[in-house]
Amino acid sequence: MTEHDGRLTVVGLGPGDAATCTPAVLDALGAATDLVGYGPYLDQVPASVGGTRHPSDNREEAARARAALDLAAEGRQVAVVSSGDPGVFAMASAICEQLDDPAVRDRWADVDVDVLPGVTAAQAAAARVGAPLGHDFCVVSLSDNLKPWAVVEQRVVAAAAADFVIALYNPWSRRRPWQFGRAMELVGEHRAPTTPVIAATDVGRPGESVDVVELKDATALDVGMRTVVLVGSSTTRVVERADGRTVVYTPRHYPAGT
Ligand SMILES: C[S@@+](CC[C@H](N)C(=O)[O-])C[C@H]1O[C@@H](n2cnc3c(N)ncnc32)[C@H](O)[C@@H]1O
Repeated sequence: MTEHDGRLTVVGLGPGDAATCTPAVLDALGAATDLVGYGPYLDQVPASVGGTRHPSDNREEAARARAALDLAAEGRQVAVVSSGDPGVFAMASAICEQLDDPAVRDRWADVDVDVLPGVTAAQAAAARVGAPLGHDFCVVSLSDNLKPWAVVEQRVVAAAAADFVIALYNPWSRRRPWQFGRAMELVGEHRAPTTPVIAATDVGRPGESVDVVELKDATALDVGMRTVVLVGSSTTRVVERADGRTVVYTPRHYPAGT
């Protein structure tokens, strides 16, 4: 790399709490001349981190990715900021999509691009209650912004039928008030009504809440834009400990012959 070469690093801040942001991410933020991201995620970056901040709206991911790559092509050290993990429904793919676009990708041929992982919302939520992701699980976004709703339904049904624990991201938005209920209905065709469901909102942030209910009551959960939902498999268990605390976990073994 010459002194004029720019670098773009896509970083994951973790769910919110600064303590879950990795040292590698903090180093990359400290080295950045420019920080690019959705405004509320940039606000999650410690105030002590320098660099020019370039906030943008949540729906401008392609434009944000191109702007960040352009800055790096000018020789800047750019950190593109995501919450959680940048590779999970976030900016790492948005950057790669631009690098894959034959119409524009040559502009950024000399830019070094790195991705630094972070703790994703499902991991952070799981850790709050025990180990619900302790066996096979999958992750589905209920958003139909970037894929048709028919595909969302197909995947939820397939995951439920295959007895995966299912982590549901983007379970609700003002424009999509009914999809979470529909997803629970579809899961209910393959799971017992007593299956544990965890709804975790603002994990690692002020106002965090974590609720554990049974699948039959899941539609009454207060699910919002900053909620991740974990739906247990047939083997996920709720354990009441002697002190009244609850542990939810999925055993590592699966019954033979099922
Ligand atoms: C666009 S996705 C981004 C996911 C993020 N890259 C990650 O790895 O966690 C946004 C969704 O992530 C989930 N989410 C992100 N941060 C969260 C948090 N602190 N608590 C609960 N859910 C969160 C919610 O489901 C939200 O709708």
